[in-house]
Amino acid sequence: MGIGLPLSPEPPGTQGSSPNLTKILEHSLRPFRGRRTPYPFPKNTMNSQDIRQSFLDYFERHGHRPTASAPLVPHGDATLLFVNAGMVPFKDYFLGAAAPPAPRAVSVQKCLRVSGKHNDLENVGPSPRHHTFFEMLGNFSFGGYFKEEAIRRAWELVTEVWELPAEHLFASVFHEDDEAFDLWKKLSTLPEGRIQRCGAKDNFWSMGETGPCGPSSEIFVDLTPDLPLVDWEEGDASGRYLEIWNLVFMQFDRDASGALNPLPSPSVDTGAGLERVTSVLAGVSSNYDTDLFQPILRAAATLAGTEYRSETEDGVSLRVIADHLRAVTFLLADGVIPSNEGRGYVLRRVLRRALRHGLRLGFEEPFLHRLVPVLGEVMGKAYPELGATEEASVGTVQAEEGKFLSTLASGARQVQDEIETAKQEGRSELAGPQVFRLYDTHGLPIEVLREIAEEERMALDEAGFENELQQQRARSRQSSGGGQQRLARLRQVLAEGGEEEETEFIGYRQLELAGVPVEKTLVLEGDAVSFGPIATGQRGVLVVDRTPFYAESGGQVGDRGRIAWPEGSASVTDTQKDRDRILHYVEVEEGTLEPGVAVDLQVSPEHRLPTQRNHTATHLLHAALREELGDGVRQAGSLVAPDRLRFDFTHGRPLSGEEKDRIAGRVNDKILEAQEAVIVGNRDFDEAVAAGAMALFGEKYGDRVRTVEIPGFSLELCGGCHVGNTGEIGPFVLTSERGTASGVRRIEAVTGRDALDLLRGRDRQLAAAEAFLGVSGERVADEIGQLKARLKASADEMAKLRMEMLAGPAEDDGAREVAGLQVLTKEVPPAPANELRNMADTLRGKIGSGVVVLGTRQDGKVTLIVAVTPDLTDRVAAGALVRRLAPMVGGGGGGRPDFAQAGGKEPEKLDALLAAAPDAVREELGD
Ligand code: SER
Repeated sequence: MGIGLPLSPEPPGTQGSSPNLTKILEHSLRPFRGRRTPYPFPKNTMNSQDIRQSFLDYFERHGHRPTASAPLVPHGDATLLFVNAGMVPFKDYFLGAAAPPAPRAVSVQKCLRVSGKHNDLENVGPSPRHHTFFEMLGNFSFGGYFKEEAIRRAWELVTEVWELPAEHLFASVFHEDDEAFDLWKKLSTLPEGRIQRCGAKDNFWSMGETGPCGPSSEIFVDLTPDLPLVDWEEGDASGRYLEIWNLVFMQFDRDASGALNPLPSPSVDTGAGLERVTSVLAGVSSNYDTDLFQPILRAAATLAGTEYRSETEDGVSLRVIADHLRAVTFLLADGVIPSNEGRGYVLRRVLRRALRHGLRLGFEEPFLHRLVPVLGEVMGKAYPELGATEEASVGTVQAEEGKFLSTLASGARQVQDEIETAKQEGRSELAGPQVFRLYDTHGLPIEVLREIAEEERMALDEAGFENELQQQRARSRQSSGGGQQRLARLRQVLAEGGEEEETEFIGYRQLELAGVPVEKTLVLEGDAVSFGPIATGQRGVLVVDRTPFYAESGGQVGDRGRIAWPEGSASVTDTQKDRDRILHYVEVEEGTLEPGVAVDLQVSPEHRLPTQRNHTATHLLHAALREELGDGVRQAGSLVAPDRLRFDFTHGRPLSGEEKDRIAGRVNDKILEAQEAVIVGNRDFDEAVAAGAMALFGEKYGDRVRTVEIPGFSLELCGGCHVGNTGEIGPFVLTSERGTASGVRRIEAVTGRDALDLLRGRDRQLAAAEAFLGVSGERVADEIGQLKARLKASADEMAKLRMEMLAGPAEDDGAREVAGLQVLTKEVPPAPANELRNMADTLRGKIGSGVVVLGTRQDGKVTLIVAVTPDLTDRVAAGALVRRLAPMVGGGGGGRPDFAQAGGKEPEKLDALLAAAPDAVREELGD
């Protein structure tokens, strides 16, 4: 099939009618319910910060260890995209998979509910209570106290510290949980009628489809206690009875089959949403009317030239913006980068939803990044990561905004074009794959597509679109999930295999270890994993208790190497980690590997030594980048492999040639200084950070950390392998610098032998060029420049000659009169498409009034151009004529009424087509 090409930069239909983005993006948003009577009690003066502190202080007084919020990205948990509850960072303690540092903990945890089991995204905006990002106050007991203490503490805090009147409160319990019911009767002043039994939907809490879960008990506040009581369902559904605290009695671990397995010991997980509690204590009817949101809403409204009024549609949009600003900024601060997959995709979607509401409010320029510092003002004290990452986040948000606006502009044109073609072809629906392409390739949000289509009275094949989307998801699951899935399966089998040994890593300086007894072996066959001896020719996984093999982490790839024992040998193809256990992936070449055999472990120096060079070079590069570009530069990912290093960092624009030179120069200087790398293996986290060690936001570190320092230049928290002296790195060559996501740049570089090989290779190429051009190295670039200029001059000259040949005397044109108008048909020599269009244009000018049909053949293909003079387009449309002609050469095409183009694949039929063109014109005219 030939493909119709757009003939000018402004495709048909857009001139003068370019869609008004603001208008097409106006959403029919659900109406806001309106302000309720504010809760009248108490006239508490606590603001959000006081509430955070009062919660932490209260539970610390009662023996709970205060624990800082973990990052939003769960560490080492493939089952969750984001931390969605206060208990997530403690999950392993509930499951008994790790020992807690203290039996009780209290935290204020950053949470995000935008995907999976807990997803509030669509409610944000219309609702006065829902958020994507929120803070959860929680107290936890790991196998210590259970229901009684949990209820006693919650009641005391709510009624005595926060001073909510007991007579305005209710409790709910899981309907089978008589124990909780009786405890509320015993420990609170609630009468029986105010203790509600509810079903599993409300009072059985689970983290996700799998994981810890259990019955729960909730505390509710009556927001309008002066009114007569209503029944429970009504009070709950209307929001009058507002849940403020959920006490979960963790008792089970739900496995993948849905079965509930008892936890090693019953535990407590409670969660109170800070935003709700703040609204109740402030006596306002919406979370958005608290000190957490008001400054942001006011700033956004001022930028938009309006005022925040909760009941209006603008109010809805402002709430979306304020909420999503929090989600986006906290995600960025925790190291998530906008992208088209995984967490980065969620970030981008949330950000774009805020931008769409911004367009609704009339913003036509990037605005969201200007609110990032406002959030810093509101929450920076409680979350220092906001301040530390502010500059970088502003840059990233601004870059995303710019990209979104230009996507919309070009995407909207693209849709318009497709709609035009569909209309010309008499279709009233855009097909699923077509919609998907606009969505996927051109990045147009589906809501925007819907709105444009609606304006143009075009339907979208939504089912077809959905189908394409599912297929794509399945494809990406297949391509990315393989390795992860296998590792997850392996972890599961290991966990079922009982006790969890720790592997000690002893390989920072030592690459060999002899006589190590094998602890465990597992065989890998296809997707199957099982315990058992690994025989000759088989692949498997080996666990020992000490090893020099480094398991992949912190960007550094896992070691490769060999294993030998008296009766056999194996190669190690990769090394990975499962909690504190190191997994050696092996292929047995001879003999059988099984528990009890004593093996010699040998890490391949060819793999490790260059990896170490690249790792230390990565630290030098990171420091040099910050020196050159400022502290806003933040690491956004890295790969340290034997053959190269890759470093992603936040920065809003490409680096200039001089910047790259200076950065690489600085790294090479540090190498030439041959500095010792100072490595401290066991250091207090706070002390290391105070000494200036760079910690990565979004990484979770323990209390004891390891630091790697190149004195006076770089100090990082790092568990990886490094050279002893920077001189070992050898040359450092920066091989590429480019953008990966908006606001993120990627540098690749090589060191050591690879750098030498690269330089040697370049030398050879230069020598070849010198020989070819007959000039010496320093003149090669000039010489090529001159040759290119000469080549271009000849090509221009040829094009001019071709035009002159065509534009000869009019009587030679072969124009014929058909039904009173001129029809000129011609085969022309092969020429680039733009030149063909110029030719057609020139000929059209010459015939004054008529139709030009040009054809050319090249490489087994035909290109057809049809041009119609403007006075005739309402009688003969070029697009229609080309559609009539193109099938004669086995192709198709289309275009505008005055200009159209087609391709075909039967060049031998071009003569016949040109001969038939006059008749085709006649048919078009309806003669
Ligand atoms: N995990 C429970 C919740 O999220 C209590 O913290 O509601």
